[in-house]
Amino acid sequence: MKIRLEAIKMVKKYYTLGIETSCDETAAAIVSSKYEIISNIVFSQQKIHASYFGVVPELASRTHYEKIHYVLEKTTKNFDIKKINLISYTDHPGLKGALLIGKTVAKTLGYIYSIPVVAVDHLWGHIYSVILTKKGKIKFPFISLIISGGHTELSIVESYNKRKILGQTLDDAVGEAFDKVTKMLFLFAKEKKLPKKYLDILKYPGGPIIEKLARYGDPNSINFPKAYMLESYNFSFSGIKTAVLYYLKSQKDINLKLIYDICASFQKAVVDTLVTKLIHVVEKLSIYDICISGGVSSNGYLRREFLKISKIKNLKIIFPNATLSTDNAAMIAAAGMNFYSAT
Ligand code: KG4
Ligand code: ZN
Repeated sequence: MKIRLEAIKMVKKYYTLGIETSCDETAAAIVSSKYEIISNIVFSQQKIHASYFGVVPELASRTHYEKIHYVLEKTTKNFDIKKINLISYTDHPGLKGALLIGKTVAKTLGYIYSIPVVAVDHLWGHIYSVILTKKGKIKFPFISLIISGGHTELSIVESYNKRKILGQTLDDAVGEAFDKVTKMLFLFAKEKKLPKKYLDILKYPGGPIIEKLARYGDPNSINFPKAYMLESYNFSFSGIKTAVLYYLKSQKDINLKLIYDICASFQKAVVDTLVTKLIHVVEKLSIYDICISGGVSSNGYLRREFLKISKIKNLKIIFPNATLSTDNAAMIAAAGMNFYSAT
């Protein structure tokens, strides 16, 4: 049953099957020990949760259960499963019922094919989305900023399997704030009887929608508050979300121009907060290599602002490839290789 670490190390190149089911993406992938992505399949449940403006846990678990075989079949279609040396799955954090599906499938496959199985921290997975993008060649230590729908985490990554967590959000995650602001815009626009064709644009997940609408707005039109919290490594995004709510309540009516301006101003306030905070941390710690990952890191405006500041401050900022920013199993497979080696 047990293929020991030594046995895996003896193989010049080995393959890891990754499984990710922590939230609303049912995903599987095969990644080689040389950080080559052989296949990377994601079934996004976004449409299922869209009208609820957030992930409904029970619906997520049921959909993982329904889709995991289809996703696994697609992932292994052109690959002999007997060539897989390791199985890696997201163990935590995440929705309990959703995680259970991935864990059960991983353990069952491991048992049937006598392949070792490794449990992975989803946040390490996001960090590995960047390491995978760089094909494993990364300089330590680096500062990691994870900005996703469920998490906002700042850490120092010291090696392939050691990170020191510095801070996290005290309330909403960055992505959650994008999602909730979109929901507030929808509810307000509905109350003010904006035509359905406009209401239909405002749905979950809010991040990509706000990014799109913000392109037509003036980012300096509304001055939303920014919680830099420079005295600590933590973050807070509930204040800006509430500020958007009060701003909406102060408006008699709403039109497309106002929606564009709110999206642009909100996005700017969030990105300003992140940039200011990160620069402060970088200068305090004198670590100039930075990796930014998680769903929100796919935001084009955010990437451009970080790249602008990186030139001024001489920083090296790395983002994951676009397909690896949001939840996927390739990052879980890549992380698993390193955590199995560490045991
Ligand atoms: O990393 P991820 O796929 O899942 C979690 O681990 O939470 O992140 C999903 C989050 C959602 O909140 C979504 O609105 C946000 O990432 N997101 C974005 C963008 N694309 C996805 N936020 C801002 N701009 C985007 N382009
Ligand atoms: Zn994630």
